[in-house]
Amino acid sequence: MDISGKVALITGASEGIGLATARLFAEQGARLALAARSAERLERVAADLPEAMAVPTDMRDEAAVRRMVARTRERYGRVDVLINNAGQGLHVPIEQVDLAQYRAVFELNVVGVIAAMQAVIPVMREQGGGVIVNISSGTSKMVIPGVGPYASTKYALNAITLTARQELAGEHIRVGLVYPGIAGTAFHEHLANLADGGTWGGPRSRAGAMPPDTAESVAAKILEAVQTEAAEVYLESVKAVAQRSS
Ligand SMILES: NC(=O)c1ccc[n+]([C@@H]2O[C@H](COP(=O)([O-])OP(=O)(O)OC[C@H]3O[C@@H](n4cnc5c(N)ncnc54)[C@H](OP(=O)(O)O)[C@@H]3O)[C@@H](O)[C@H]2O)c1
Repeated sequence: MDISGKVALITGASEGIGLATARLFAEQGARLALAARSAERLERVAADLPEAMAVPTDMRDEAAVRRMVARTRERYGRVDVLINNAGQGLHVPIEQVDLAQYRAVFELNVVGVIAAMQAVIPVMREQGGGVIVNISSGTSKMVIPGVGPYASTKYALNAITLTARQELAGEHIRVGLVYPGIAGTAFHEHLANLADGGTWGGPRSRAGAMPPDTAESVAAKILEAVQTEAAEVYLESVKAVAQRSS
């Protein structure tokens, strides 16, 4: 898909990979709807782009997710591209994982994505097609002690995405995955397990694990996923490590 003039809804667009993706898509001429919880930050991002609207949304709130898609359609009349990028890490050994934190991260990384897909698929079907890209993680192609709770949500996301891809193939709705490795964002400062004073998996633990990518280089891969409508797009850093550990 050529995204010039197309309508793209990007979740987690207030910072990090989602913000870099919003800027790149805007440069390519896309019309944008930007979602995250922080309304003020989203409004500032939207104001800096040629055609963008902020749709403050908590992706764990099913009704809010439906409203996010409805508002995008109200404004632009269609939704050509959905980028399910909002997500959070939970880096702690399985034995120690707090189950309430696990449920909350699963709600965001998996259930919220399904809710967004369920809201947008009928819109895409009615307009004759669309592209959905779900942001996974290289951790779902590896076994990394201490990262299992987070990785498991992305393993689930992979299964959902690739299944939906086959289910929707006949309707010109292409569903695909992008696998970032470690990106230079605040992701590792936002790990769910750091909220209650935990230290496992914090910023220091990622040093040396994999060469870091910039948020902009991940955004370029997300654009590639939309343009090629591919099933799976990998950052080079992930390909190298996944091959070594397989
Ligand atoms: N950075 C990495 O090393 C890395 C590696 C592999 C995969 N990924 C994946 O890439 C995606 C983006 O990560 P990132 O590095 O850009 O992370 P980030 O810098 O922590 O940004 C996360 C984004 O998600 C939003 N968000 C968080 N909780 C939300 C909720 N409940 N509802 C709606 N939005 C929510 C945040 O905005 P608000 O807080 O305002 O809601 C923010 O815009 C995630 O899916 C992540 O799993 C990242």
